[in-house]
Amino acid sequence: MKKNVFLVLIILMADVVVFGKYPLITNTLNRTTTTLNGQWHIIVDPYETGYLDYRNTPYDEAENPWGGYFLNQKARNKSDLVEYDFDRSQTMMVPGDWNTRDDKLFYYEGTIWYKRSFDYKKEKTDNRLFVYFGAANYEADVYLNGNKLGRHIGGFTPFNFEITDDVKEKDNHLIIKVDNKRKKEAVPTVNTDWWNYGGLTRDVKIIEVPPTFILDYKIQLKGTNENVIAGFIELDGTEKSNRKVIIDIPSADIHHEMTTDGSGLAGVNINASDLELWSPGNPKLYDLTIQTEGHQVKDKIGFRTIETRGRDILLNGQPVFLRGICLHEVNVLRGNRAYCKEDAEMLLGWVNELNANFVRLAHYPHNEYMAQKADEMGILLWEEIPVYWTIDWENESTLENAKNQLNELITRDKNRASVIIWSVGNETPVIPVRLKFMTSLIETARKLDNTRLVSAALEQHGSKEDNLLRLITDPLAAYVDVLSFNEYIGWYDGLPEKCDRVNWHIDYDKPVIITEFGAGALQGYHGDSLTRWTEEYQVSLYEHTLNMLRKIPQWRGVTPWILTDFRSPRRVLPDIQDGWNRKGLIAPTGERKKAFYILQNYYRGMED
Ligand code: GCU
Repeated sequence: MKKNVFLVLIILMADVVVFGKYPLITNTLNRTTTTLNGQWHIIVDPYETGYLDYRNTPYDEAENPWGGYFLNQKARNKSDLVEYDFDRSQTMMVPGDWNTRDDKLFYYEGTIWYKRSFDYKKEKTDNRLFVYFGAANYEADVYLNGNKLGRHIGGFTPFNFEITDDVKEKDNHLIIKVDNKRKKEAVPTVNTDWWNYGGLTRDVKIIEVPPTFILDYKIQLKGTNENVIAGFIELDGTEKSNRKVIIDIPSADIHHEMTTDGSGLAGVNINASDLELWSPGNPKLYDLTIQTEGHQVKDKIGFRTIETRGRDILLNGQPVFLRGICLHEVNVLRGNRAYCKEDAEMLLGWVNELNANFVRLAHYPHNEYMAQKADEMGILLWEEIPVYWTIDWENESTLENAKNQLNELITRDKNRASVIIWSVGNETPVIPVRLKFMTSLIETARKLDNTRLVSAALEQHGSKEDNLLRLITDPLAAYVDVLSFNEYIGWYDGLPEKCDRVNWHIDYDKPVIITEFGAGALQGYHGDSLTRWTEEYQVSLYEHTLNMLRKIPQWRGVTPWILTDFRSPRRVLPDIQDGWNRKGLIAPTGERKKAFYILQNYYRGMED
């Protein structure tokens, strides 16, 4: 294989080799792009025949990679031996998970190769080209015209590679090896309560930009100062230094010119009086243009402040209660991964119907349409990386992986006003190695973005002497801005009436968000409120829980588990679960369960 000289950023920590990736190009939804969505050819490859030779050596590291599927070989004559052919293999729609597109792949965990041919004529010969992936779950090796662009690890964050020197005008073949095998050292690890949807699960596109272009930017209020817009603009390219950049926000009468420094960065610090602040009640977005010679990017930015003061969460300086709900990234009507704008509109439309103003996007970064749509609709967001349950705490590469996913999430969504909380994990055990791991992630989040709150969904514990006295004893509580925890009293712990007998003792003067409570119910199954799996049991759990939570003086938000049923291989009770977690308020039929209306009314009564 022609050994391409390509950008190799090797962050080699044990086995997290992240190379070839180019710094993330932000706001691709508003850039001129060429989509590669559509039908791709795939080869299901459980033995990785197209990647490993018979001595288990990766072809893309061999002098003669003869058998690598990424070469897209064809038999040149009747005697030639080639034992694969993408163009005669099955096709699959991209974006989307493979599990629900082909019954044979429903439980498949392994490698599938994707291949897309495309022609590309650049608008200007000296322009640069990048290929961008919204996500690929879980590990992606990317090849263009037989050359390896690089590898990405992590199933829920975007990545891109420069392809300027690799693209031909005709008949390019882009080939991606996607492997969704669960691994102990991965993030998440082998054990989750959601379906391991594999594949190119989000948009794939080509981005064409001038030789020097606007790579990234952050434009937000300067912390809690409503009269200063701060951030940065970053250019990339040979002419990035000492170059004029301009920010225009016409409806705020802002036209601001800056010059980049030697690294292509320009700091933003603009006085702005009388900005109309973004909020759920008034999701005001300002049209903004950033330009430099030969390139411009448009965006819609909401300006708002978020902070905590004692037990309160302050949005634009005013206390706010977060009337929330949890979401998995699923379209429950299709029974698979959500991935498009229409999915985001449907899911957030249901959130609005619930009279909610807040969503916990569990347990991993969702697609980019969610935060963009939440900005437009005025819905506040909690975004989370999948440091879930029992991570390989002492593995350095696992920590680097988690930090990389946090970095990619924050880079992608840092301009979205709706995002107010970065979460570094969910229900992790109270052990010393985990505390070190999680505090390192909190430090990383604050370094990347000190304008938002940081949290994690902890666990509550009953006191040894009195099980009805609930405490937060997790040392991580001291490091987060918002104290969040999950509790399942009445489902995994007693019956709903137990909530009436529980008392909470929380020793922190911080806002408290209950990030999960819930009960399973099969939609349409009715009985008395003590019959497990009935809608009536779920209603009873909601009623008793909401009455209990009101007793917590620091209570400032709640995100019940969960808006819709979702698939999970852990949920196997015949005729009730059948591979679904039934704690949703909305069933796969789209019908609302009775508890949906309990929460809807409760939130209606709380509306400011
Ligand atoms: C846990 C976990 C969820 C899970 C839920 C449940 O709290 O955070 O991911 O689905 O409980 O048991 O349904």
